[in-house]
Amino acid sequence: MNMKLGKIQPAEGKLAILTPGMGAVTSTLIAGVLAIQKGIAKPIGSLTQMGKIRLGKRSENRSSLIKDLVPLTSLDNIVFGGWDIYTDNAYEAAVKAQVVNRYVLEQVKDEMKKITPMSAVFDETYVKNIQGENKKKYKTKMEAAEMLRADMRNFIKNNGCNRAVIVWCASTEVYNPIAAVHQTIKSFEEGLRNNSPLISPSQIYTYAALKERIAYVNGSPNVSVEIPALQELAHEMAVAIGGSDFKTGQTLMKTIVAPGLKNRLLGVEGWFSTNILGNRDGEVLNDPGSFKSKEISKGSVLEDILSKEEHPDLYSNLYHKIRIEYYPPRGDNKEGWDNIDIFGWLGEKMQIKIDFLCKDSILAAPIVLDLALFIDLSQRAGMRGIQEWLSFYLKAPITNPGIKAVNDLSLQLLKLENTLRFFAKEELINHLGLTHYDIDEE
Ligand SMILES: NC(=O)c1ccc[n+]([C@@H]2O[C@H](COP(=O)([O-])OP(=O)(O)OC[C@H]3O[C@@H](n4cnc5c(N)ncnc54)[C@H](O)[C@@H]3O)[C@@H](O)[C@H]2O)c1
Repeated sequence: MNMKLGKIQPAEGKLAILTPGMGAVTSTLIAGVLAIQKGIAKPIGSLTQMGKIRLGKRSENRSSLIKDLVPLTSLDNIVFGGWDIYTDNAYEAAVKAQVVNRYVLEQVKDEMKKITPMSAVFDETYVKNIQGENKKKYKTKMEAAEMLRADMRNFIKNNGCNRAVIVWCASTEVYNPIAAVHQTIKSFEEGLRNNSPLISPSQIYTYAALKERIAYVNGSPNVSVEIPALQELAHEMAVAIGGSDFKTGQTLMKTIVAPGLKNRLLGVEGWFSTNILGNRDGEVLNDPGSFKSKEISKGSVLEDILSKEEHPDLYSNLYHKIRIEYYPPRGDNKEGWDNIDIFGWLGEKMQIKIDFLCKDSILAAPIVLDLALFIDLSQRAGMRGIQEWLSFYLKAPITNPGIKAVNDLSLQLLKLENTLRFFAKEELINHLGLTHYDIDEE
């Protein structure tokens, strides 16, 4: 494999960040970026804006802000756009979502009001429990893809952008397992022309983006960029892709806590996770089909970290149960409980309880920003296909065939940092840390 990196194209001109879905996550992202630009907020939680990275040997005592190390698009050069079935502009969406506090929101109101959604490609068999009027009319799914492609081109042109990235921030679709139509570009395109019921709206958006050579990240557990046909298309069109599902509340906690337990060789026999949330996402997930998609993306994390193949004595009886309850009074203020039944020396049983009172979209917004800016960097660096180095942000990271996903948050960070060093032509760090004092030299 050629691991040589050519010249990274500079981050010149404006970058369009386009999001299918302009609900809680998107409006929180936009309000935040505008507030940061105005100096009324800090980019807390964002590696691209605040993150630092060590460079060289520890003895060199050298580090850099990530944004000074690699050429990232600056916040002043971002233009936001998107699609939704509701006609609410970004300000109205933020008011309804009730995530961003009114003091901040009022100061970015004028800019947010100007960001209005394009009409969506929507299919109520894939997302139940919501209805809106802002939908495209088309005869075939191929025609829908062409309309989206025209939207993308027009947005870039009308807003003076020189490139775009897309991050899926729309609702979770019902579980849609990979079928024959998803296997090759040919079968998929035939399916688009023949209106295959197995092709979901998120797959149509992804197809349209890839055909326009626009880098794409899937922020939900939908099966879209995950299908072989679209991964093949990403290679053919030389486009960077990533997914799936933003790693925010409970799964973030799992990928912090579980690796620690495993590193200390503590056994785990049960992990019961339950959530209550009352936002629109929760309402959609109240449908069993959409919940099934989420259950799968949330479920694989623990089984991977606490591997029963690797440690049958510790994890072969692990019982992992996940519940999400729609509870309107909480809105976006999710509460995630974890009860973890562990055992240690002599098989003695112990328990850990985690009660995370989190704000879902507050955790998601910096993830979307970082994914957008990093995947744009990948694209400018000529990387194509799955960008596994962005797994840090994702609940169910996709990988190339035959490669096991890494779910441990610390290992994901190491990979992300080393990829940035690779981009910057800096020495990769293996944390071996041996010096000449440690070894008897002959
Ligand atoms: N909030 C989090 O912390 C978090 C974490 C992980 C993943 N996610 C995922 O991110 C996505 C967005 O979450 P949210 O809280 O903003 O949800 P939300 O319900 O507030 O917003 C989603 C928006 O997508 C729109 N939509 C649905 N189908 C569409 C389509 N085909 N085209 C265009 N728009 C469409 C809906 O009308 C809605 O306004 C969900 O899939 C969610 O599962 C969110």
